[in-house]
Amino acid sequence: LFSAVEMAPRDPILGLNEQFAADTNPNKVNLGVGVYYDDNGKLPLLACVQKAEQAMMQAPKARGYLPIDGIAAYDSAVKNLVFGADSEPVKSGRVATVQGLGGTGGLKIGADFLKRLNPNAKVLISDPSWENHRALFTQAGFEVQSHRYYDAAKRGVDFEGMLADLQAAAPGTIVVLHACCHNPTGYDLTPAQWDQVIATVKAGNLVPFLDMAYQGFGQGIAEDGVAVAKALAAGLSFFVSTSFSKSFSLYGERVGALSVLCQDKAEADRVLSQLKIMIRTNYSNPPTHGGSVVAAVLNTPELRALWEEELAGMRTRIKQMRVALVEKLKAAGVKQDMSFITTQVGMFSYSGLTKDQMVRLRNEFGVYGTDTGRMCVAALNSKNIDYVCASIAKVV
Ligand code: LMR
Repeated sequence: LFSAVEMAPRDPILGLNEQFAADTNPNKVNLGVGVYYDDNGKLPLLACVQKAEQAMMQAPKARGYLPIDGIAAYDSAVKNLVFGADSEPVKSGRVATVQGLGGTGGLKIGADFLKRLNPNAKVLISDPSWENHRALFTQAGFEVQSHRYYDAAKRGVDFEGMLADLQAAAPGTIVVLHACCHNPTGYDLTPAQWDQVIATVKAGNLVPFLDMAYQGFGQGIAEDGVAVAKALAAGLSFFVSTSFSKSFSLYGERVGALSVLCQDKAEADRVLSQLKIMIRTNYSNPPTHGGSVVAAVLNTPELRALWEEELAGMRTRIKQMRVALVEKLKAAGVKQDMSFITTQVGMFSYSGLTKDQMVRLRNEFGVYGTDTGRMCVAALNSKNIDYVCASIAKVV
């Protein structure tokens, strides 16, 4: 039965974890996957999460099946976070939100629903984009194309190119947009550029799908929501996938969501009924723990304030690492101007290093980043940064 099955390639991001785990180099540093580590190189367990879990342990609960669309208090917390608790769409009930298995799960539920809704639509992703965007929408049955985004010479966004490609897209094209902290480049659109993108999406009858996996890692929770706020103000119907993997350091809990902004409540009810079919036929209903924790934190004012503080702490430390990286690369003898690293935002730096250089970094020095030159700045710390810089200096 399986004799003709071919060996699939390793996943370009998670596959690096497997290689890293097997690496015996005592100095190895994992800058591959997008995970935040503290200055001691430890994965944080946020205090807000611990407090919520302690309260849950005081009143242990049996684990029945959740509703197909997840915990009601969780879905409502997601809506409030994404659109604003007092916002018109939340108040009028025209947002359909379902709990998802991480941000990836939210994207997949949306992709499956869109494939049923408009099977012939094409999907546009940025060039480059998160590796899994292309794979996920392709697996959902779509033809995936890319629009211009990264300008290597300018070290920034090729905004004219992006706009021209969006203008040329056929009506109904699904456009996957990184709401903040563009993965992998770290270059975001300015609020004024978002205005133009949203106007173009609206004029072309394109379908925006905002991927918001890093809210709070750019400028702040509200600031990072600018794309959602502007799409809402433009009167669009759109999709938003949310991830709490990074912002709550709850990677393994697979806690995320999909929200679909509809034109009215009746439409949202019908959309929700279809999303539930996508979920039921894939994994039936979501798990209880991660969603309960996030709901408890977001819906309890003291815990919510603590979360915002802890998230700001992570954001600030990443920014400090960016500054240190630029200084230490220079001190290690790197001649190129690396100051672009501090203009990038979020967890990643698109370093400009070639695939060969990234492979050498991995094989000779145990420093892991993706083949595309992406490095997770959020995994740098005061103890490993000198080694990383010395290693980079040797390959550039
Ligand atoms: C990443 O880009 O490294 C993260 O989003 C983790 C993942 O699932 O790929």
